Amino acid sequence: MAIKEEMDRLTEELKVYQDKYYKEGKSLVSDSEYDRLSDRLAALEREYPEYAHPDSPTKRVGSDLTNDFPEVRHTIPVLSLDKAYSDQSVLDFFSRSISKEGGALSFAAEEKIDGISMVLYYEDGILVRAVTRGNGIIGNDVTSNIMTIHSVPLSIPEKIDIAVRGEVYISKEGFEAFNASESDDSKKAANPRNLAAGAVRRQKSSEAGLVPLDIFCYEGFWGDKSLTPPDHLHILSKLKELGFRINPHLAFFDSSAELAASKLQSAGLEGEAYAFFGIDTFIKKKTEERRSLGYEIDGLVFKINELDVRERFGYTEHHPRWAVAYKFESPQAEARLMGITVQVGRTGRITPVAEISPTKLGGSTIRRATLHNQEYIDELELAIGDTVSISKRGDVIPAVENVIEKNEEGNTTYRIPDVCPCCGTELVKIGGLQYCPEYTCPDQVKGRISFFASSDQMDIETLGPKTVEVLYNAGILRSIEDIYTADFTKAAGLPGLGEKSISLLIKGVRESVSRPYPVVLSSLGVADIGRKSAETLAANGFDSIGKIMAAADSDDASGLTAIPSIGDVTAHNILEAFRSERLRETVAVLQEHGLHVSADMDEKEEELEKTLSGEVWCITGSFENFNPRSEALKEIEKRGGRTVSSVTSKTTHLLAGKGGGSKRAEAERLGVRIVSEEEFMKIIGMDGGEDRKEKEESGQLTLF
Ligand code: IVH
Repeated sequence: MAIKEEMDRLTEELKVYQDKYYKEGKSLVSDSEYDRLSDRLAALEREYPEYAHPDSPTKRVGSDLTNDFPEVRHTIPVLSLDKAYSDQSVLDFFSRSISKEGGALSFAAEEKIDGISMVLYYEDGILVRAVTRGNGIIGNDVTSNIMTIHSVPLSIPEKIDIAVRGEVYISKEGFEAFNASESDDSKKAANPRNLAAGAVRRQKSSEAGLVPLDIFCYEGFWGDKSLTPPDHLHILSKLKELGFRINPHLAFFDSSAELAASKLQSAGLEGEAYAFFGIDTFIKKKTEERRSLGYEIDGLVFKINELDVRERFGYTEHHPRWAVAYKFESPQAEARLMGITVQVGRTGRITPVAEISPTKLGGSTIRRATLHNQEYIDELELAIGDTVSISKRGDVIPAVENVIEKNEEGNTTYRIPDVCPCCGTELVKIGGLQYCPEYTCPDQVKGRISFFASSDQMDIETLGPKTVEVLYNAGILRSIEDIYTADFTKAAGLPGLGEKSISLLIKGVRESVSRPYPVVLSSLGVADIGRKSAETLAANGFDSIGKIMAAADSDDASGLTAIPSIGDVTAHNILEAFRSERLRETVAVLQEHGLHVSADMDEKEEELEKTLSGEVWCITGSFENFNPRSEALKEIEKRGGRTVSSVTSKTTHLLAGKGGGSKRAEAERLGVRIVSEEEFMKIIGMDGGEDRKEKEESGQLTLF
């Protein structure tokens, strides 16, 4: 019995310390003493679980056991809210409700916290379950993670059954601090809500406990109906009394501001008091205040105060008839999730993509949006048929941001299949992401080839993803090295491949042979070698693929890790990649065909004589041999010339192609030499002609 007594005593003592610390910011004991007591209690609880208190303070620390978030049925309907987008429609909601009731009503207004909806279930005053909204009927049990939130009471002072709804969120400050501490960009959260959603579903509660989650509670459902307070204000004050965290930014609307104020006061609550017609002032004020709040809100929620009226008004299938959410305008659009397709990237990475009803956003019509990975889908609890909000992240890639309304078909959260949708190979999981491990998986092969040929890489303009697809299917192009060994004339007649495009393709492939070494290196598609890191490698001793392979053979990462931007993991990954026989075969064939597998092969280009040094060139019109015309600018710069975008008195030459108006006129006015394309070809020696300066001097070269 001594054990049980010690555990009871420790539990009580630690509870007092925690309360003082988290509610009043006071430490009653030193950190080390606190840790000692807490470790002792945790050890005893492991040994004598039968004596452990369900609301033990050790639950706050979390555990290293893996969570599996079982599905559980809600015992209250977890509904969403009807929406309003203007002051007027909120006012309409007020008047519609009042005339329907045929009597006086009052309304509470709360901030709509942009977080994760949560239901906390207490039995006999003890927190027994914390459940996500899920589809409103069934959600996931995330209790151990939610227990790490200090503002969630593990027990309440009354031995009652109660379900409490609230929003789990993370402050703007907490979000910034988290992202600042995460050096890996790909692990940074896109916004506070995503970070909170991820934390709620962390596999280990000890890890969830590291994220500064918090909660605001806003609804209570008493098991014993007779205990239910008569109105919303009293529900809030009761929840507060029971130890729940209530948002202090409350407003209350009644027929007069005085009446509203007195009701707030009699419920013992602080808040702003308004008459119904004050709605526009209130909304304007909150819209402005929004930015300076410490957490994100996406709207305001207006709720009928009187509980008996709520009962009479009831619910639709999806929302209560006694509340409405005013949504702030945002550059987001709503769409229906029609389906999810699963893409296989060039590295085998599996990416789910949302197929949505065509939706206008930011000037374009969007049909697809990224869903990142299974974890992201789980965080959103996304199911086919749901209504979702879409945003354009960084104004480019559309992303599914949130579920606005659950589907009515009863579809549950989508799961990516276990096998590759392209080749059927069983997927593997690496660091929360799924991969197809089959190197010859057609989607991966096509992806690798397209990446190699893309404009940021080897820039084989005529070899886009569609052409790659056609050539792959015809069996002509089955690997990167095939680009240099295939007989493309055999492709004549294939869709989109006439004689002309084939000769352009052959020309493009031939030109690509002289791309510089760092470009070749990054085009191989090794996960950790992008354009920038390829250049870093080249500049730091790894100036040939051979040298990287030698390091791989001797498993010597020291040369790589000596480069400041390369860490141990990246170095290991690079070496691992260059041990692959397949990659080595590719490199061997590329080398055979004259591609720059070492930096010394690049030097020829760099050593061009600086024949244009001291000259300032401007360019206008379009060209036959330089398309895009920036190619001509490159030729000038390679020869030491400077290029400018407008003609001024400092400009020495205007390269004038077809068309081109105002610059030519300006050049004429300023007496700047105007050079035609044909002459330019001669100047830079691309016509196989003789030395230009000589000709210029002997007057053979006309510059007008
Ligand atoms: S009341 C039946 N109050 O908004 C009661 N919801 O779009 C319905 N939310 O699922 C909820 N702050 O997750 C309510 N002060 C607040 C809220 C709030 C955020 C969320 C909640 C709900 C969603 C509806």
